[in-house]
Amino acid sequence: MSKTGQKVQVSGEELEVEVDGSTEQHYVSVSGIRIRLAKPYVLDFEWVGNKPVLNQLRASWFCSHEGEKPMNPRLVGKPGVGKTALAYAAGKTLGLPVYFFQGTADTTPNDLMITPLVVETAKDMSKVEYIASTVISAMIVGGVCILDEGNRMQEKAWASLAPLLDSRRYIESVSVGLMLRAHKNFRFVATMNDDASCFDLPEYINSRLHPYIGLDFPDRSEERKILEVNLPFTDPVVLDYTADFLALARKEGEEYTPRDGIHIANYAGKLVDFEAHSGRDLDPGEAVVLAIEQILGIRQARYMKQILWRERAVTKS
Ligand SMILES: Nc1ncnc2c1ncn2[C@@H]1O[C@H](COP(=O)(O)OP(=O)(O)OP(=O)(O)O)[C@@H](O)[C@H]1O
Ligand SMILES: [Mg+2]
Repeated sequence: MSKTGQKVQVSGEELEVEVDGSTEQHYVSVSGIRIRLAKPYVLDFEWVGNKPVLNQLRASWFCSHEGEKPMNPRLVGKPGVGKTALAYAAGKTLGLPVYFFQGTADTTPNDLMITPLVVETAKDMSKVEYIASTVISAMIVGGVCILDEGNRMQEKAWASLAPLLDSRRYIESVSVGLMLRAHKNFRFVATMNDDASCFDLPEYINSRLHPYIGLDFPDRSEERKILEVNLPFTDPVVLDYTADFLALARKEGEEYTPRDGIHIANYAGKLVDFEAHSGRDLDPGEAVVLAIEQILGIRQARYMKQILWRERAVTKS
């Protein structure tokens, strides 16, 4: 509780961030209570391929007038299609710090807020520190909050975010008696899988998470670029075969994702490198077949075998 027992109203812009010289931790003080901020996520990563969907996300956040509010989009797609990567890339293009909150089935409303933590300062000495979640930290400093895998979070956790996700843009923290209004730069996106492992969100939450931005599988040339940026050391022939495999398998209705492709190409590339290092030769196509068998399953490798058969038939004739 605040020292007076009164609820304090404050907005992100009004709080000054102090850096503790010895620990490098960032803090803000609200009515005598010191709150430790979470750290933003820093990733060396480049988004390639689907620019239109990146721009849709950026547009939903775009504000060009004083007082204009950003939207709170929902990014939906199959597991491994690149939702988290897209959300992070969009955040970075704004030049703002990017914070992640990982939604799980056990997430409680308190996990999203400011939680008191007893820390030991010396032998037999301890003090209470207040720790801000990544959501609260992004609201204070004016950063991007990615609520990752929001579909896993239960209604009671979502309910505490309801006032943040409409034009009010605030959150109430009971533990410190604080009503915190989000910094004007604060941006929010929830990523969600469209598989069955999710909680169906109640309508009052669904109705706040708009627009719905669907992320689909990349095409052959995007996929090839994705493989290359993620696996800069892998044999380019392995990357070509993997992209061919994914394109053919998807044409046949399979739903293998860029993440599957990255695993396959990574392993196939390692097999080729390892064999070469041991003085043996492994055909990159055969390495991709083996990698698919060990990553997706024996049957799934048939598309890759088809590609190799066709290729050999052409070179023979
Ligand atoms: N367009 C892209 N550019 C660069 N890398 C990409 C792209 N799309 C996907 N990836 C890569 O594919 C992998 C899977 O992406 P990501 O983890 O973002 O998927 P996801 O949809 O969030 O999956 P999950 O639902 O399991 O969390 C990552 O290694 C990511 O870097
Ligand atoms: Mg993800």
